Amino acid sequence: MADAKKLFIKTYGCQMNVYDSERMAEALGPSGYETTTDMAEADMILLNTCHIREKAAEKVYSELGRLKPLHDAKPDLKIAVAGCVAQAEGEEIMRRQPMVDLVVGPQSYHRLPAMEARLRLGETALDTDFPEEDKFELLPKRVKLARGPSAFLTVQEGCDKFCAFCVVPYTRGAEVSRPADRILREAQELVERGVREITLLGQNVNAYHGGTDGDGWSLARLIWALNDIDRLERIRFTTSHPNDMDEALIEAHGTCAKLMPYLHLPVQSGSDKILKGMNRKHTADDYLRLIERFRAARPDILLSSDFIVGFPGETDADFEATLALIEEVRYGQAYSFKYSSRPGTPAAERAPVDEAVMDERLQRVQALLTSQQHEIQRGMIGRDVNVLFEKEGRLEGQLVGKSDYLHAVHVARGDAKVGDVRRVRITGTERNSLGGVLL
Ligand code: 5AD
Ligand code: SF4
Repeated sequence: MADAKKLFIKTYGCQMNVYDSERMAEALGPSGYETTTDMAEADMILLNTCHIREKAAEKVYSELGRLKPLHDAKPDLKIAVAGCVAQAEGEEIMRRQPMVDLVVGPQSYHRLPAMEARLRLGETALDTDFPEEDKFELLPKRVKLARGPSAFLTVQEGCDKFCAFCVVPYTRGAEVSRPADRILREAQELVERGVREITLLGQNVNAYHGGTDGDGWSLARLIWALNDIDRLERIRFTTSHPNDMDEALIEAHGTCAKLMPYLHLPVQSGSDKILKGMNRKHTADDYLRLIERFRAARPDILLSSDFIVGFPGETDADFEATLALIEEVRYGQAYSFKYSSRPGTPAAERAPVDEAVMDERLQRVQALLTSQQHEIQRGMIGRDVNVLFEKEGRLEGQLVGKSDYLHAVHVARGDAKVGDVRRVRITGTERNSLGGVLL
């Protein structure tokens, strides 16, 4: 398009936001926008925000503050705010930062073209509804070339779990699953564009229950259907909740050839008292038994989790219970966060743990998780793994990809190219990646 307008998107937070940003870019295509990576040439800057932790709203306001000079120099520049902060703050954003033209919550992205049309009339546009219609059906089909051989595909959104610390049930709304036939069609299209690995996304992905005709497909059934797509080589999914695991999904890890041996299953804490306070509705032991079942189905499965330290009421003994759980599981990789109070959530009403105590606990939990990660990485040396190559490496002649276990692996490229799955012998480990040679 000769006179295309330029759209610059800055994405914060989770993989679902990455996926949403792509879909928003596509939605604005027919309105004459193409994406740019250069903010200076943008006609519209869209911030796709995240509200999950730490003064998220304040960060968005300061980011907007930084955009002010650019906007002053270029008054036609449109400023849009999307994502969970848009949902949570709504018109407050326009009140505090009047240069903002458009505020759109995650459930209304299909309405972006209509909202953009209002901007052209010199109006502003705000939409933070939870509409009845299925936004994914109304968003344009994924038209652009996939960026690489690995793609995300949202299958489920929202959450009904109401963990006491979490904003997701409020910002993303109730759990909704997309119909299986539409997901399969989108997967087929991605594969036709060169995608070889699909990661199914959902805030509570294993709660998936999308029928084609209301007959309630489970995530396991969806994975088995994806397994039949020719040239799709790998299937992953994230993020799961322990209470939504079913036998079929566990079993699939042992029997479904394309389902990768990696599971992100957040437990948050190893203390039953804290789990109760978090409204997790499972005990540490329930979780450990579940892990045992996964390991029985797939002994080499690599495990990952999220942990929160310093949840209100967490004592030294509670924290030690978290460390003990980590020792017992042995994680290949995991995320840990200091508890951060989110307005409107039940835990925000409770007395906080001392900040210095939280800092110290975070350091200890991260040290333990890092040592487990490195031990498992060292254990990979000498082993042969499959690697899907995703891009050029940092060094000349290098190719980088992911192993079945989601380790980043780099090799001297030889005759391999992006999009290939090749057998690689691991020869070394660095902080967050492995080195290997093509076999
Ligand atoms: N404080 C700290 N961590 C949080 N998470 C979610 N909400 C909070 C919060 N208020 C973490 C959880 C979740 C991950 C996505 O973010 O560990 O699994
Ligand atoms: Fe938030 Fe996950 Fe709990 Fe849902 S299950 S409320 S998304 S932490």
